[in-house]
Amino acid sequence: MAISLVASDAASPRVLDLGAGTGLLAAMVRSKLPQARLSLIDMSESMLEVARQRFAGDPDVEYTVADYSAHTFEPGSYDIIVSSLSIHHLTHPAKQALFKKLYDALTPGGVFVNADQVAGATEAADAYYRQRWLAEIAASGLSQAAIDASVERRAVDINAKLGDQMDWLSQAGFQNVDCMYKYLDFAVFYGLKPATP
Ligand SMILES: C[S@@+](CC[C@H](N)C(=O)[O-])C[C@H]1O[C@@H](n2cnc3c(N)ncnc32)[C@H](O)[C@@H]1O
Repeated sequence: MAISLVASDAASPRVLDLGAGTGLLAAMVRSKLPQARLSLIDMSESMLEVARQRFAGDPDVEYTVADYSAHTFEPGSYDIIVSSLSIHHLTHPAKQALFKKLYDALTPGGVFVNADQVAGATEAADAYYRQRWLAEIAASGLSQAAIDASVERRAVDINAKLGDQMDWLSQAGFQNVDCMYKYLDFAVFYGLKPATP
């Protein structure tokens, strides 16, 4: 028997991908849910352009170039909201405000899944994550220029602790909040909007 963590069982689920970039995560969703209607939002026109090419000819994909933290989503308009490697760019208050907005944007029984970088519970954990990451990219074969660019990019990350983010999801109204996967500073966590109030 297949077990689903999602209460909603819409035949053609409406799926929103926040910070969709080139559409990698949305493509994974499409492979699991072939009937899904996908909405991709990203502030970068050039990233979404790559997604447009990826989904060329697919009539069930729409694109919005916008800052999702400022964008107004229609209440109850999505069955599933996903995001990967994007929300850590927001300040902590903006993350909390976004989680509330996403709760409202979901249909009852809908789910929000976030795969993102997280801060460690302690400074020692953060130092360990960074040490592991630096060792991994040093051994990756990337050029020094590419490594320097990665280090520079990560300097503007605003990672929040996993526990805090799960609390913010609960405070926004989500239930069954849980972390389904974690490896060093990468985590996949989710919350369910109850099917009945
Ligand atoms: C590291 S990329 C990840 C892209 C994609 N989700 C993936 O996993 O391949 C982060 C993306 O988030 C987008 N982004 C960051 N903050 C955003 C915001 N406030 N509103 C819309 N897009 C945002 C960036 O433009 C970028 O395309």
